[in-house]
Amino acid sequence: MSQNIPFIDLHPKASKFTIDVHEGLKNLPKKIPAKYFYDKRGSELFDEICTLPEYYQTRTETKILRDLVPSLKDIIPGDITLIEYGSGSSVKTQILLDHWDNIKTYIPLDISKEHLLETAAELKSRYPQKRVLPICADYNDGTKIKEALAGETSKRVIFFPGSTIGNLVPDRRKALLKSTQEILGQGGYFLVGIDLASKDTQIINRAYNDDQGVTAEFNLNLLSRINRELDANFNVRKFSHKAFFNKAEQRIEMHLISQAEQSVRVGEERINFEVGESIHTENSYKFTVPDFTAEVEKLSYSVEHVWQDPKKYFAIFLLKN
Ligand code: AVJ
Repeated sequence: MSQNIPFIDLHPKASKFTIDVHEGLKNLPKKIPAKYFYDKRGSELFDEICTLPEYYQTRTETKILRDLVPSLKDIIPGDITLIEYGSGSSVKTQILLDHWDNIKTYIPLDISKEHLLETAAELKSRYPQKRVLPICADYNDGTKIKEALAGETSKRVIFFPGSTIGNLVPDRRKALLKSTQEILGQGGYFLVGIDLASKDTQIINRAYNDDQGVTAEFNLNLLSRINRELDANFNVRKFSHKAFFNKAEQRIEMHLISQAEQSVRVGEERINFEVGESIHTENSYKFTVPDFTAEVEKLSYSVEHVWQDPKKYFAIFLLKN
């Protein structure tokens, strides 16, 4: 690593991964939380997904951000502490950092420690005048995050791009929204990107079934990661990637489908699979502007602004607490 910068580690214990995987694989239907995609390899594969022609989200949101950034500093005056949830490689963030001088402190928050620290060090050398304070955490751990931020006195803005909020089932999403309000305090802002449901279903389906098979590799890497970190013996070639839009639930679902009847050891546990049995690995909810507006207003967030691309594929909401 090029330089040492201050760092807050709120990463859950390694044993949490074992517990979650055992629990999830004993559940019927089998499931594993999507946050475990993001080991170093998974974070790299996700970055590659973002550049795929089929994955319209990243380029669409980036264009919206470029267009909206000049107005942000007028809407939100004064010094800012920018906290980014699931910051990954912080690519989109640089649009904000480049054009919003009042951001004095940037706090990238991500569950993938190595990737976070590398990115934070790069950002620090790129923006030497800004404070960069990475926090390794699960963004659902609101209480711990709030405590860690106790000393930050500037106006807080939480940035949650990428429609990552779509990973959460409605109950979890409500809890996350409430926890952002706790962290922001009165007058803080939440800048959040959401993928819109109204487009042709085929376009959504293709974004998760790309021709190069990068999304498939991203999904299957979860099993390789479990092999690497939890002493398991998944034969990755005996599982296949499946992703489809579930219309009733308004979400993309990703699954790993067992291609054989097989038995897999995961640490101390044995897990049996039937042919065609699935492990549900991700939900990615799609939204409408009126529904998301109603949902956040119920929690007494006020919608200050909604920006969309001309084709209305994606939306960025600015919410005020
Ligand atoms: C990072 C959760 C927004 O759901 O589109 C990309 C993750 N999964 N391709 C998404 C993902 C498969 C992505 N999010």
